[in-house]
Amino acid sequence: MKIENICCIGAGYVGGPTMAIIAQKCPHINVTVVDINEKRIAAWNDEDVNNIPIYEPGLSDIVKEARGRNLFFSTEVDNAIDKADMIFISVNTPTKTYGMGKGMAADLKFIELCARQIARVSTSDKIVVEKSTLPVRTAEALKNILENTGNGVKFQILSNPEFLAEGTAVDDLLTPDRVLIGGDIDSEKGKEAVNALVDVYANWVSKEHILTTNVWSSELSKLTANAFLAQRVSSINAMSELCEKTGADVNEVAKAVGMDSRIGSRFLQSSVGFGGSCFQKDILNLVYIAKSYGLGEVADYWEQVIILNDHQKRRFAEKIVKTLFNTVSGKKIAILGWAFKKDTNDTRESAAIYVADYLMNEQAEIIVYDPKVTEEQIYADLDYLGTRSENENRSLLKVVNTAKDACRDSHAVAVLTEWDEYKKLDWKEIYSNMLKPAFLFDGRRLLERKAMEDIGFEFYAIGN
Ligand code: NAD
Ligand code: UGA
Repeated sequence: MKIENICCIGAGYVGGPTMAIIAQKCPHINVTVVDINEKRIAAWNDEDVNNIPIYEPGLSDIVKEARGRNLFFSTEVDNAIDKADMIFISVNTPTKTYGMGKGMAADLKFIELCARQIARVSTSDKIVVEKSTLPVRTAEALKNILENTGNGVKFQILSNPEFLAEGTAVDDLLTPDRVLIGGDIDSEKGKEAVNALVDVYANWVSKEHILTTNVWSSELSKLTANAFLAQRVSSINAMSELCEKTGADVNEVAKAVGMDSRIGSRFLQSSVGFGGSCFQKDILNLVYIAKSYGLGEVADYWEQVIILNDHQKRRFAEKIVKTLFNTVSGKKIAILGWAFKKDTNDTRESAAIYVADYLMNEQAEIIVYDPKVTEEQIYADLDYLGTRSENENRSLLKVVNTAKDACRDSHAVAVLTEWDEYKKLDWKEIYSNMLKPAFLFDGRRLLERKAMEDIGFEFYAIGN
């Protein structure tokens, strides 16, 4: 089976970049990315490619190359579904905020809406690909909806989870460690569908890096991968607290441990806590699934990763208050970095949101500078928490356009995102414009202790 038309439902952080790469690498396939969010689609179609809605290094050039040739962004969802041989579902699957499983389970309403829409408008057979991260056995529910259309159209369901990380999405998509495709490999039609998707990726990924499994293994592998990654961060962060008590340095510990080839050196960077749209959501989902099968010990084991992460964010904020003589009321604290990691404008679940919220509860005045996050987004993040009124958020926290402006006349500076440009700041000048004693809290191990102390800062770094 040869794929000529692909439709992707969801033009977000996954749908947009993934489809841009498919379009770039498969000029013979028409790729249409659809979304109900008109503003987002308009931004993807903006004449100036620098205005596309997602900042990822290298992405705008790829969009420039493929857009209008075989890459299209549209709000006409029905049309694109009907035309496609293969439909990727790449919509959001956030943690449920209501009803059964509130605060734990993945909310699958957007997925179900997509399935119903596909069932309603399809007039020819299609391969439906789960690109979103989903609880294991979701394909069963999709199948149920799709098989009951009554119009004879046949669907094959594949699981093809995405492993890209934000900030490195383009590289991750161009040279993935593996592409995982789960399908009904026991049936002829199922195998055909799997092969059709393998052929799409084989345009740029070598066959050894394309792994095929049954659907359930594929769905569960995605949750497992995120749980393992997040667990490493919580493990090193747990050690960071012990390092601070014992005189060990978490970076040295991470290096020593990581040189053991069985452990490996990546993903051992201690921090103020992991953020992002997925780690917390996917682990909570895993915990919920384990609990729903009665696997209490399994659930508790993974829940601890989240408990430790919440602790890490809180103890960093507490450290600031304690160090500033137990009160930050009326004190000016500069926050450098609002994104959940460098090289992205995404702020979902960013540690900065929680640290700022904690300090605002202590009546601190916060000044934020982030090179890629807008003022509108920062206020939206705080308003979403619902801790205080919108007016109070705007009066307690201000957003400025340079690090220098953020730090001027402040009592303390907290580095919460590891943007490269913060390393190159003129820290001497920043110091001279701050109130004394000038406190500097490094939540990312970005700065050199000795250099900062030589300038005169009272310096605190995670795990040291
Ligand atoms: P996102 O919120 O950026 O994008 C999802 C998009 O889907 C939104 O623009 C929304 O308007 C659209 N949408 C929702 N329902 C729709 C419908 N019925 N019809 C048309 N459009 C609809 O989310 P994301 O970050 O791209 O994540 C998508 C999925 O991929 C999630 O399941 C996530 O867990 C998974 N994932 C995300 C990442 C990441 O780095 N962000 C990486 C791997 C996997
Ligand atoms: C993560 C995974 O790395 C991707 O493989 C996965 O596809 C994705 O989640 C997803 O499913 O959404 P992402 O959240 O974009 O990607 O970014 P990461 O690089 O994993 O970082 C997550 C958080 O952990 C960030 O806040 C980062 O600063 C933090 N982190 C990461 C650390 O604190 N220390 C580390 O050593 C690594």
